[in-house]
Amino acid sequence: MNIITTIQEMKETVAKLKKDGNTIGFVPTMGYLHEGHRKLMAEARQENDVVVASIFVNPLQFGPNEDYDRYPRDEDHDQKAIKEEKVDILFYPHVNEMYPKEQTIQMIVQRRVNVLCGKSREGHFDGVVTVLTKLFNIVHPDRIYFGMKDAQQVAVVDALLEDYNFSITLRPVDTVREADGLAKSSRNVNLSSQERKEAPNIYQALETGKKLVEQGEMDPEVVIEEVSRFIREHTHGKIDYVDCLSYPELEKVETINRQMILAVAVQFEHARLIDNIVFSSN
Ligand code: PAJ
Repeated sequence: MNIITTIQEMKETVAKLKKDGNTIGFVPTMGYLHEGHRKLMAEARQENDVVVASIFVNPLQFGPNEDYDRYPRDEDHDQKAIKEEKVDILFYPHVNEMYPKEQTIQMIVQRRVNVLCGKSREGHFDGVVTVLTKLFNIVHPDRIYFGMKDAQQVAVVDALLEDYNFSITLRPVDTVREADGLAKSSRNVNLSSQERKEAPNIYQALETGKKLVEQGEMDPEVVIEEVSRFIREHTHGKIDYVDCLSYPELEKVETINRQMILAVAVQFEHARLIDNIVFSSN
């Protein structure tokens, strides 16, 4: 595995690989890797000649009250995981390499962001699309791999590729879960043992909502109410949101008659957990 820290070396390396006819799969991450990230790398490995992963904790996507400085880092663990997944190149730039000076041009995401997690994280997705545009221009991937755990991010990246005519194929990867259904997340370690026992009920709640739709329920509000009730009854967490929207547009609809996302965020004492399922109505 080759570790590259400068943009120039990354661009030169990619140019050579492309000239030799290699396809490139790219997995952007912020490090502190777990099995969710590793699944993206494994999928990329299957479909591309060369796999590039990046680790870059992007300050632009953290709000003033979010913990950019305290974002967990574990270089040795991450490099071991990346090697085991047979990633060819790790792009690992310093923050000054990616943002040497204040940007002159700012990207603003207009749609798909004023709901779900975007609602309480103003500017977050502006920071995400900014860093991804830079990374795509540096790595020139043929395919990019994103987890459906962050389904709103997938929806925003989908719009970024379309609006700005990137010739890149987006590969969404299913959420990797613990055996009991809890979505894998670096935040799960912050759950108390009681909370950890309750947390799989978040996924159960989503499944209950989906089942209602399968049984013929077409009103999003009824589904939202049932999912909320299930979470209140089975956990001590505080519901941040439960919503049922069209996907990937992320718009409110009167009737469930297209592809939809059912998404929740639940605040426990030291961890805010998110989860979702995407389903078609027929
Ligand atoms: P990060 O939180 O490190 O996540 C990197 C990728 O791993 C994302 O695509 C995320 O959806 C995926 N992922 C996380 N948990 C997962 C799980 N349980 N199952 C499947 N995939 C999972 O998302 C970011 O970084 C950043 O916003 C980034 C895209 C790198 C831009 O800075």
